[in-house]
Amino acid sequence: MNLLNKFLLPPEKTAHAVEVDKIFNFINVSSLILLAGIVVAILYFVIKYRRKSENDMPPVIRENVKLEITWTVVPMILVFFIFGWGFQSFMKIHTPPDNTYEIHVTGQQWLWRFTYPNGATSTGDLHVPVNRPVKLIMESNDVIHSFFVPDFRIKQDVLPNRYTELWFNVKETGESDLFCAEYCGTGHSDMTGKVIAQSEDDFQNWLASAKSPQKNSNMSPAEYGKQLVQQNACLTCHSLDGSEKVGPTWKGLWGRTVTLSNGNTLKADADYIHESIVDPKAKVVEGFNPVMPSFKGQLNDDQINAIIQFIKQQ
Ligand code: CUA
Repeated sequence: MNLLNKFLLPPEKTAHAVEVDKIFNFINVSSLILLAGIVVAILYFVIKYRRKSENDMPPVIRENVKLEITWTVVPMILVFFIFGWGFQSFMKIHTPPDNTYEIHVTGQQWLWRFTYPNGATSTGDLHVPVNRPVKLIMESNDVIHSFFVPDFRIKQDVLPNRYTELWFNVKETGESDLFCAEYCGTGHSDMTGKVIAQSEDDFQNWLASAKSPQKNSNMSPAEYGKQLVQQNACLTCHSLDGSEKVGPTWKGLWGRTVTLSNGNTLKADADYIHESIVDPKAKVVEGFNPVMPSFKGQLNDDQINAIIQFIKQQ
């Protein structure tokens, strides 16, 4: 089975993954055996019972009780076995143990935001400690998203106005891809991130630094802005190279004359960019949809100024 995993499946980074793969491989292998058996039988019968002459008439067979019972009962045993096995691990995956480490997950078009028990937040990337059960409590700010980490073999819809949960226990440090697995609009395919599994010490250090994202003393405002831009996943929707993504590019934005969706024009200055961060729907650029979430309350004035300094350089 390990050989199969190497070729077909992503690495097994949680106990759930090992469990899920066992069933998956069992279904795969038993289906292959059945397929081979059926194909061989078809070929054999096609040759053995082929029409041999013009007046060759086959006998009329109405029923064969033994045969019919066999082909009903055998697959039934098989599917009940798979159901029982699958149900057992489904319950395990959906029943978090006591004393989990709880992280709140918010999905919105088009990013993931994580809030940790100490108040720290991260966007895009989820940090977790290894060898400790972690529970995610998830909700959406807008439409249905789906939280999917292939390495962990977990996937769960994330809904507006309702909490859904997931739990896992990562076995070793490392990074895993995180996807949104429910089509949620234009930026759906960019709604990705990493799950970063860290040792308990590294995780606690990260947690402390994420709690108070401070501009460190030898950092210029623009460098601080760049860090904030990364933390808030701004570049999911805004490019720095002139290409148009979900939102307008930042390349050459500063000082440019911008045409808005209502036909007005204005010069991109600090006031305009500041307003567009806290109230993105106030002035929408012509040709773009009003889809940006507000960062009001998530970025303070210092941080917004730092981002403006970063945009100025583009
Ligand atoms: Cu969120 Cu697709």
